[in-house]
Amino acid sequence: MPIHLLAIDQGTTSSRAMLFDEHCQPVSVAQQEFTQHFPRDGWVEHDPEDIWQSVLTVVREALTKAGLDAADVLAIGITNQRETTVVWDAATGEPVYPAIVWQDRRTAAFCDRLQSEGHEPLINQRTGLLIDPYFSATKLRWVLDNVAGTRERAERGELRFGTIDSFLLWRLTGGRVHRTDATNASRTMLFNIHNQQWDEDLLQLLDIPRSLLPEVLDNAADFGQTDAALFGASLPIAAMAGDQQAALVGQACFAPGSVKSTYGTGCFMVMNTGEQPVASSHRLLTTVGYRLGGRTTYALEGSIFVAGAAIQWLRDGLKLIRHADETEALAEQVGDQSGVYLVPAFTGLGAPYWDPLARGAIFGLTRDTGIAEIVTAGLQSVCFQTRDLLEAMIADGAIATSALRVDGGMVVNNWMVQALANTLGVPVDRPQVTETTALGVACLAGLHMGLFDSLDAIAARWDCERSFQPAMPEERREALYSGWLDAVSRIRNQHP
Ligand code: G3P
Repeated sequence: MPIHLLAIDQGTTSSRAMLFDEHCQPVSVAQQEFTQHFPRDGWVEHDPEDIWQSVLTVVREALTKAGLDAADVLAIGITNQRETTVVWDAATGEPVYPAIVWQDRRTAAFCDRLQSEGHEPLINQRTGLLIDPYFSATKLRWVLDNVAGTRERAERGELRFGTIDSFLLWRLTGGRVHRTDATNASRTMLFNIHNQQWDEDLLQLLDIPRSLLPEVLDNAADFGQTDAALFGASLPIAAMAGDQQAALVGQACFAPGSVKSTYGTGCFMVMNTGEQPVASSHRLLTTVGYRLGGRTTYALEGSIFVAGAAIQWLRDGLKLIRHADETEALAEQVGDQSGVYLVPAFTGLGAPYWDPLARGAIFGLTRDTGIAEIVTAGLQSVCFQTRDLLEAMIADGAIATSALRVDGGMVVNNWMVQALANTLGVPVDRPQVTETTALGVACLAGLHMGLFDSLDAIAARWDCERSFQPAMPEERREALYSGWLDAVSRIRNQHP
């Protein structure tokens, strides 16, 4: 009897596949990085074919590593980098343009125009989002305005739009299914999070033909069956969720006020706010946490664009290190007092600043600043940005958290997690399984297939591996943080 769950985790810099047993314990994992394209300042693209091929490769590899066949898999869950926008031809499945990645800022001027025309209150009220190039809507609009023939083809119903979940679902089902889930839909800036429908007023405002859009389902649902030719058996796709929302589930943040932060390419802090959407007055996003059985649980989210990507830049851009795991020893050597601040605003600043034109900088360099100090400042920037988010959540009146649950590739770094607890002044809990994104969507698929009977059953399997307690005098904590705020203020409003 098939009992394994397969999670496809399509992230910003790599695709991963993870197999879990019926208790959601990891069995095998395969990962493949793919090329990032930066064709102009502020532009970030992926080749959708690279994404597709990497997904096929990692799924096959994860099965081989586990010594399993597709027939041993009960169901698939898909989780993904959110907002990244793909438009493809419904007849051929060919993308009409590269995927425009969530980090891409090309629509900053268009977003400014929407702002100055006074559309933000309506957009914010309907979608819970702020006007920013981050979200899919203006990227989709850019494709329709700039790729020859696409508007006409869209109006004739020949094209499909999707975030990566929908694109993968389309390909996995052999071009038969065009669907998404409520969490991914809630990141497009076209979805009304209150009535859970595509918003006709916003479609009109942005001039987006309705026929482009996928059907929106719950996070655990019958999304479709894979084409049997792909993996040797046709498998049900039983769950889909944006990666941050999948991590919320994987971290078992089911109680209002529970909060997690995931450190991947970016960092995304998401707090469960229960069945009522909480409107932020501190420039956080109101978003769908998960939707199950037709009932929506909302969340407040703080999104920062560069976390792990800062370390990747230190490695690949500056070549200061060869592997990310060198950063821990370097930071231990330096400590937190070098006075160097790195503000990694490579693609602008996300929450709570939302400044698409800000760019990165390093401050506080002295004659004896070296590689170790700059690397440490990179790690600290992640902690300070997390504090920015937590401050905004507290100011929004969201329940002050007793502990933050963390996950993602960066949290293997003990120095970084301790520095995070010190910077926030709250305990930081690291779970046994830090691959919570894949775990979360596997749990959702398990829920749909009857392996779990409730969210409580999923919560019962969450285990803390280590709790990091704050260990820094308050005065020092505040002095370091005010240095960060000063550094951020210097890179803002500098653009022409
Ligand atoms: O909103 C973007 C986010 O979903 C990307 O996540 O893990 O690829 O940094 P990640």
